[in-house]
Amino acid sequence: MAADSSKARIAVIGAGLMGHGIAQVFALAGHAVTITDSVAASLDAAKSRISANLRDLGQDETAVTRVQPCADLAQAVHDADYVVEAVSEDLPLKQKLFGEVERHVRADTILASNTSVIPITSIMQGLVKRERALGTHWWNPPFLVPLVEVIETQWTTPQAVAWTMKLHETAGKKPAHVKKDVPGFIGNRLQHALWREAISLVEQGICDAETVDAVVKASFGRRLPVLGPLENADLVGTDLTLAIHNIVLPSIDSRPGSSPYLQKLVADGKLGFKSGEGFRKWSPGEQAALRATLMQHLKSMQD
Ligand SMILES: NC(=O)c1ccc[n+]([C@@H]2O[C@H](COP(=O)([O-])OP(=O)(O)OC[C@H]3O[C@@H](n4cnc5c(N)ncnc54)[C@H](O)[C@@H]3O)[C@@H](O)[C@H]2O)c1
Repeated sequence: MAADSSKARIAVIGAGLMGHGIAQVFALAGHAVTITDSVAASLDAAKSRISANLRDLGQDETAVTRVQPCADLAQAVHDADYVVEAVSEDLPLKQKLFGEVERHVRADTILASNTSVIPITSIMQGLVKRERALGTHWWNPPFLVPLVEVIETQWTTPQAVAWTMKLHETAGKKPAHVKKDVPGFIGNRLQHALWREAISLVEQGICDAETVDAVVKASFGRRLPVLGPLENADLVGTDLTLAIHNIVLPSIDSRPGSSPYLQKLVADGKLGFKSGEGFRKWSPGEQAALRATLMQHLKSMQD
């Protein structure tokens, strides 16, 4: 691995929603970035997407000159200190890709996957040098959401983890070290524990979907940016937290599988924005308004 993680040569594989944004973050931080994609149209669009994002954010547009699109995978990765993969969420595809990448990189090049949910162990198990492989789970959009979960496997060296943490920290991200390769890592486990109960409340007729979202946004959602759940537990007292849990936890949804209510929505073609209805109905105008509100909010929270 390169001695200096502040001047790394980065290769990004996959120039889609996540890949182009990850390339943008590293280029803005001063790194030389190659980006590759198996679909020419995705690769061709990468630089203009990055330029548009930088312009919209009022950031240095010349950063895009540090991004080098490269149609050939071997050429894109051969000189890299760090390779991050953001191709489609498909285990055999990712396994095959890393097998190929490993044939073209140095023995000490760090290899990272941006998978959302696939265990890093499954993706990297076929590598010759598994100790340099790990997960880096970014959140969308990569240039506005600070967290990157850095996931180690049973094989990853502490040096590879430390180097990767530093790389992301100096690029302005907030890396979090995930010490065990568990499904959902940290962020998605927490997020989906909440979603499970949110769905259950609607399923049981306790309230409708709009009310669930209104309650979250008007209550602990207000505090979350400055008060994490365990800070909150300490603030109110672990004794009070225990008393609350002893009453509430037995009635909270703990079914291990997905909710039948959610399964029925999907079976009925109620897929959310893409079909115009999910937990509630969404006109094109309402969808655009919510997306705009979200982007505006994330921009306003930039450090
Ligand atoms: N979208 C999100 O919110 C989000 C968040 C965190 C992580 N992720 C993960 O990031 C990864 C990418 O997601 P996305 O939303 O950017 O998907 P996307 O569909 O926008 O982009 C994937 C890109 O990979 C390219 N690709 C497919 N096979 C390839 C190959 N063999 N070689 C090179 N390029 C190839 C596709 O052409 C496409 O441009 C997935 O693993 C996803 O689960 C997504």
